[in-house]
Amino acid sequence: MTYDLIILGGGPAGYNAAERAAGAGMKTLVIEERALGGVCLNEGCIPTKTLLYSAKVYDHAKHGEKYGVKTEGATIDHSFVIDRKDRVVKMLTGGVAAALRGLGVEVVNASGVINGRGPEGLSVEAGGKEYVGKRLLICTGSEASVPPIPGLRESVASGFGMTNREILAMREIPKRLAVIGGGVIGLEMASYFNSVGSEVTVIEMLDHIGGPTDADIAAILLKNYAARGVKFLLGARVTSVGTGRVNYLPAGGGAEASVPCDRVLISIGRRARTAGIGLESVGVLTERGAVVTNGRGQTNVAGIWAAGDVNGRSMLAHTAYREGEAAVRDMLGQKDEVDYDAIPSVIYTNPEVASVGLTAAAAKARGIDAVEKKVTMKMSGRYVAENEGGDGILKLVAGREHGNILGIHMIGNYASEIIYGCAIIVEREMRAKDLQKFVFPHPTVGEVIREAAFSI
Ligand code: NAI
Repeated sequence: MTYDLIILGGGPAGYNAAERAAGAGMKTLVIEERALGGVCLNEGCIPTKTLLYSAKVYDHAKHGEKYGVKTEGATIDHSFVIDRKDRVVKMLTGGVAAALRGLGVEVVNASGVINGRGPEGLSVEAGGKEYVGKRLLICTGSEASVPPIPGLRESVASGFGMTNREILAMREIPKRLAVIGGGVIGLEMASYFNSVGSEVTVIEMLDHIGGPTDADIAAILLKNYAARGVKFLLGARVTSVGTGRVNYLPAGGGAEASVPCDRVLISIGRRARTAGIGLESVGVLTERGAVVTNGRGQTNVAGIWAAGDVNGRSMLAHTAYREGEAAVRDMLGQKDEVDYDAIPSVIYTNPEVASVGLTAAAAKARGIDAVEKKVTMKMSGRYVAENEGGDGILKLVAGREHGNILGIHMIGNYASEIIYGCAIIVEREMRAKDLQKFVFPHPTVGEVIREAAFSI
């Protein structure tokens, strides 16, 4: 039998595309070697949010006195948290499997390798069988990058070093946790383990945390976590990982120093999974290890699309959904293109950080004449009511001449839930004066967007 579409990888890009394709009447096969749901559902977005929610409840219990609530002897049962996380994952991955079954999508649980093109179509081998499809969508995702720093790979083999996969299965709370990389994964895990009592040290090679996050927002986030006892070593270059320690060269030179620790999290980025999947058999082009795609998910080879982390473009689950959908629409001959300038991003720390579009610095780097307006979250009564001592801010970046909104960036809770509206604002290229005419529910934290629009 020839499938209309074979999808390699059942993560957010793959399973969502499968639902859309099958919904449009395509005979669809998903080949997944591990578990449906991919990194996001099994060892990324959802498991971490489950842990972070428990930490938030625990933090509220410990620090409720600011709100007149006193709790004696609050404790957290980390093993229970992990069990609950496993239940949440099982429920959601079960939901994906049921949705695919309901749409008649076939799922093969094996590792798939592209095996060239025959007269019937593209051939993929999985679990000793050959499957042929008229079209192929590559959604093989990404894996944690573990560079050849001496001792780093050995540390993962011994269990002392962990990636996002192992840390989410760990049953004990390490007394001292070193986190290499102060990006999204590093900060979210630092947040959880700080809340549950580990002594956390974040070792970051740049002079700031949070990667491309707005500099003021990253500084506020750092200040919040430093006040809670997380240690940050910025501008630090890890030289090796030894038994019970991470060695590094501190910022500004000086002698090698080390962070003694019981466990190490390696969170220094991810790389696309393109090795060993047979791309060369069909001539799919890669650049720096990622499949090259356009905004419609097309690769350089007719009949082959790619979506999700494997294209190395944005490496976020919600981008993966969108890319998978755009690719399926393209297969169906419909016009669609992903707008990579309007993809929101969130760091689920407490307070949350959320962002969409250009920061002032990014606008400047692109040669765009932009203005930036910074407002305090305290302009929202709801924020003040719920954030004793909060220091959240929101920044609006707009084109100087027309006031078109280029970016919105914030730190403060509910940011993760507010940012999608901001993505629409940026995607639709609205102007500050358009925002002034929208009615925001009161009292909500999102009202600060309206306030900022009046001040630009
Ligand atoms: P990342 O790219 O966000 O951060 C990696 C950090 O490690 C950077 O700050 C980098 O400067 C630093 N670094 C690199 N090499 C280093 C070294 N040798 N020593 C010290 N620091 C070093 O990568 P991360 O945190 O591993 O996350 C991977 C991917 O997962 C990201 O692409 C992210 O988009 C995605 N993700 C998204 C989440 C979200 O949307 N909330 C949550 C978790 C992951």
